[in-house]
Amino acid sequence: MQIQRGMAAFVSGAGSGIGRGMALQLAARGVAVGVVDIRLDDARETVALIEAAGGRAVAVQADVSDQAAVDAAADAVESALGPVRIACNNAGVAMHGVPLHEIALKDWDWVIGVNVYGVIHGIRTFVPRMLAQGVPCHIVNTASIGGFQVNPNFLTAAYSMTKFAAVALSEGLQQELSGTSVGVSVLAPAAVDTGIHLSARARPDRLGGAYVRPENHFMGDLIKDGAKPEDIGAMVVAAIEAGEFYIFPHPETWHWLAARHDRIRAGFDRSIAGYGLPKAAE
Ligand SMILES: NC(=O)c1ccc[n+]([C@@H]2O[C@H](COP(=O)([O-])OP(=O)(O)OC[C@H]3O[C@@H](n4cnc5c(N)ncnc54)[C@H](O)[C@@H]3O)[C@@H](O)[C@H]2O)c1
Repeated sequence: MQIQRGMAAFVSGAGSGIGRGMALQLAARGVAVGVVDIRLDDARETVALIEAAGGRAVAVQADVSDQAAVDAAADAVESALGPVRIACNNAGVAMHGVPLHEIALKDWDWVIGVNVYGVIHGIRTFVPRMLAQGVPCHIVNTASIGGFQVNPNFLTAAYSMTKFAAVALSEGLQQELSGTSVGVSVLAPAAVDTGIHLSARARPDRLGGAYVRPENHFMGDLIKDGAKPEDIGAMVVAAIEAGEFYIFPHPETWHWLAARHDRIRAGFDRSIAGYGLPKAAE
């Protein structure tokens, strides 16, 4: 889809990190950006950055784990900026550093609520609106390279599970929307220098409110030398224009996926060999 000046975009989690990077890059292309975040002050800061660079944006508070809040945020963005042509379901939180059996149920609710339902809610809100517009539109879901491989080093399976879901939702959405005017991409970065290690600052009140989650803090060291959010935003803009589905900002991580695929292939080799069981009589 060709990005044109005056189009409107909705970017969730745009008060920080990758969402802010996407918002800044879209605004630099003349797109008016709905900067949506559960932390309104941070969203306002992004708007100030966009405006200082000569762009147009509006800050809207919403918790993406709440469907009504996403609908209301979409209404607010559309009444301020016009019909949304680009929706980036990007808000997400970390849930690293604790083995699966020790993660509290309220933390499961939180990470699934934001990382999975956040994407589902964005799809439910924007697909009907975009199809009704009948002009080229695009949805970008932020997953992670963790949506393709469970990193063995960081007790990251709960987070990865949500990102596998984001990948599956995106692949299915693209299948369902093929032949329509709505394109789909899924963003799958490795380390990006953001505030993700401080995710607990943004836990919704209805799921317990902001807190300190030291188990995530080790990630701060891992990501500080990672990619810069604005560079990720530039890749997203390029992918929207090129109609690219998979956006992999870290090409070197292919080896992680290849190792996983090799293991799956070995499982099929055992299947092909019949698991050593006697062959059924012909
Ligand atoms: N940083 C990385 O290394 C990395 C790698 C792969 C994928 N990601 C993904 O990128 C996305 C953005 O994360 P980031 O790294 O920029 O982190 P970040 O913490 O800097 O930004 C996330 C933003 O989302 C907002 N947010 C959190 N919960 C919300 C909710 N319920 N409703 C609305 N907004 C909410 C936060 O307030 C914050 O502004 C996430 O989906 C994350 O999983 C990040």
